[in-house]
Amino acid sequence: MLTLSVIKADTGGWVGHSAVHPAMVARAEQAVDAARGDLLLDGQVATCGDDLSLIMTHEHGRDADAVHRFAWDVFLQTTEVARGLGLYGAGQDLLSDAFSGNLRGMGPGYAELDLTERPSEPVLCFLADKTEPGAWNLPLYKMFADPFNTAGLIIDPHMHDGFLFEVYDLFEEKRLVLDCPTELYDLLMLIGAPARFVVHQVVSKTLQEAAAATSTQRLSLIAGRYVGKDDPVMIVRCQSGLPAVGEALEPFSFPHAVAGCMRGSHHAPLMPVAAADAHPSRFDGPPRVICLGYQVHEGRLVGPRDMFADPAFDRARAQANEVMDYFRRHGPFEPHRLPLSDLEYTTMPSVAKRLADRWEPFAPAESAMSLADSASPAGQRPGRH
Ligand code: 13P
Ligand code: 13P
Ligand code: MG
Ligand code: MG
Repeated sequence: MLTLSVIKADTGGWVGHSAVHPAMVARAEQAVDAARGDLLLDGQVATCGDDLSLIMTHEHGRDADAVHRFAWDVFLQTTEVARGLGLYGAGQDLLSDAFSGNLRGMGPGYAELDLTERPSEPVLCFLADKTEPGAWNLPLYKMFADPFNTAGLIIDPHMHDGFLFEVYDLFEEKRLVLDCPTELYDLLMLIGAPARFVVHQVVSKTLQEAAAATSTQRLSLIAGRYVGKDDPVMIVRCQSGLPAVGEALEPFSFPHAVAGCMRGSHHAPLMPVAAADAHPSRFDGPPRVICLGYQVHEGRLVGPRDMFADPAFDRARAQANEVMDYFRRHGPFEPHRLPLSDLEYTTMPSVAKRLADRWEPFAPAESAMSLADSASPAGQRPGRH
């Protein structure tokens, strides 16, 4: 049994939250090179925006202490590099002081998938910046449940039995498995609310194997405050009873609106880009997704191929820019800004606290004068006589 782990963290941004500094990548590559052939079968380092991912194959299974400890240690090293260069938010995603067993609840995100390697094993690793794990809900639904996206659901008999979707409720910390297509409508009821419900895993009923896995942690829910966005990763296996590579990429031709972008507090379109363009600058966005394609062979990562470096995604990018213009014109208004229910977990409480003792019950017809008198701090505003 082979395990593919993609473990990521934001350990410092260059410049602001826009990219990872090459010196951090070099440090992580050194560590991966040293572990290859020992702890790891193979490994690569990749970045999307200010997030650094370790893409690793090994035989230790999911949630393995040794593999998670290795990643944690790499992130401590890249944090040190970031501190040395004064990079922004050095160590941003490392929420815990010490490693204890695995990375759950510690800040770094991880998607892990156990697989029995097929004679040809095409795998796609999706990395996103400036968004949260629910961003994968819509594309996963399209890949594994929508025949208008995935022709294989009709054409390939191995796909006719459908797929199991494992859904996490991040607020209540519970999980549920839905059997699709039978329970499609239940699935959509839940995952249409991506701030709370996220698809953690998709399993092929025919192959009895995991077909997709995502990182599902929400930093703000762990920390109880705003600490940047989760910037999730996702692994999708393809072909032979699973979506074709092109079917797994197709959902991203629609730059759907996701939560994230500036200060993690806005809706904006998810723009599929080539790796070289995964550096959100405008309004710290629009949120980006890249896709690195591999053939996994005898545990080796043959790749990556930069899957969105394809002019066929130009129109998705153009549409994302247009949608970004539209959202931006709302300024601080919803639905560009996230609804209060989402900000309650991040920035809203401190503002609410400042105003808390100034609220009073509705009063009958007040004059402008008494409204002015009740404003605070009284008499300190310039130009008031
Ligand atoms: P080829 O004929 O190029 O192998 O493609 C088959 C296929 O399934 C494409 O989705
Ligand atoms: P990151 O989550 O990518 O660090 O972005 C945080 C942010 O505040 C962007 O405006
Ligand atoms: Mg950052
Ligand atoms: Mg980021």
